[in-house]
Amino acid sequence: MNRGQPVIQVEDMVKRFGHFTANDHLNFEVFQGEIFGFLGANGAGKTTAIRILCGLSLPTSGKIHVAGYDVYRDREKIKKSIGYMSQKFSLYEDLKVYENIRFYAGIYGLGLTFIKRRTDQLLEKLGLEYARNKLIKDLPLGWRQKLAFSVAIFHNPKIVFLDEPTSGVDPITRRQFWELIYEAGNEGITVFVTTHYMDEAEYCDRVAIMDQACIEAIGTPADLKEKFGAEDMNQVFLKIARHQRRNFTDSPPIDFPLSPEGGRTGG
Ligand SMILES: Nc1ncnc2c1ncn2[C@@H]1O[C@H](COP(=O)(O)OP(=O)(O)OP(=O)(O)O)[C@@H](O)[C@H]1O
Ligand SMILES: [Mg+2]
Repeated sequence: MNRGQPVIQVEDMVKRFGHFTANDHLNFEVFQGEIFGFLGANGAGKTTAIRILCGLSLPTSGKIHVAGYDVYRDREKIKKSIGYMSQKFSLYEDLKVYENIRFYAGIYGLGLTFIKRRTDQLLEKLGLEYARNKLIKDLPLGWRQKLAFSVAIFHNPKIVFLDEPTSGVDPITRRQFWELIYEAGNEGITVFVTTHYMDEAEYCDRVAIMDQACIEAIGTPADLKEKFGAEDMNQVFLKIARHQRRNFTDSPPIDFPLSPEGGRTGG
């Protein structure tokens, strides 16, 4: 693909919690309009990295720029340039669909007329007009996640960060979710997404694979499959994990608990 300008630049990013290192000298760039996948088992350090890139947490060291802003100095500017769908929380369960949209859009300072028009367009696109007055807690998880994503890009950010947006969502809805991601990519929004689902890794322009706080591989899915002599991304992931465990522990290699379709079964 033709790469645009780098919109995320990470050099030697380290994050320590006391003596524990959660991100160990990460190095990567993400380019404008890219769909960049961030993969890794539970505890690999993905959310820690996302929180730093969103300006929510300071790194211990490293040189990091997001949307052209420095993560030490310009965290408020970063927050205005990005959208974020967090792993643990996305929408207010006790607010109605339209109230959630209005709430988030209001935070970004968008005008009421604009919010109303965009809300109508959005609900129509998602086929959710019937649910305008429903409480979020009454919507199926898949719908909630699609809505949360749409809310995260409502203000048309440069970059959107999605932390396991499809966790626990059925395969058909996951596919629909990825169509929304592609649409955002086509509109020029850079997408930074973490996932455990290896079929989703195949949908990314490039992926970084994390293991135990480090990035062990980075490239297009096609490049990584070739490099590791693997048929699919699931095999790439398992090969990296086995290799690391042979290098760093005395215990036998452990397989991650992947389900037959490539998703994790627990956690
Ligand atoms: N505030 C904190 N204080 C101490 N340790 C932390 C803190 N936040 C994260 N960690 C530790 O850092 C490691 C990486 O956590 P992180 O949440 O980044 O992993 P992850 O890759 O997002 O995992 P998951 O797939 O389960 O979401 C974990 O061992 C976690 O316990
Ligand atoms: Mg996480």
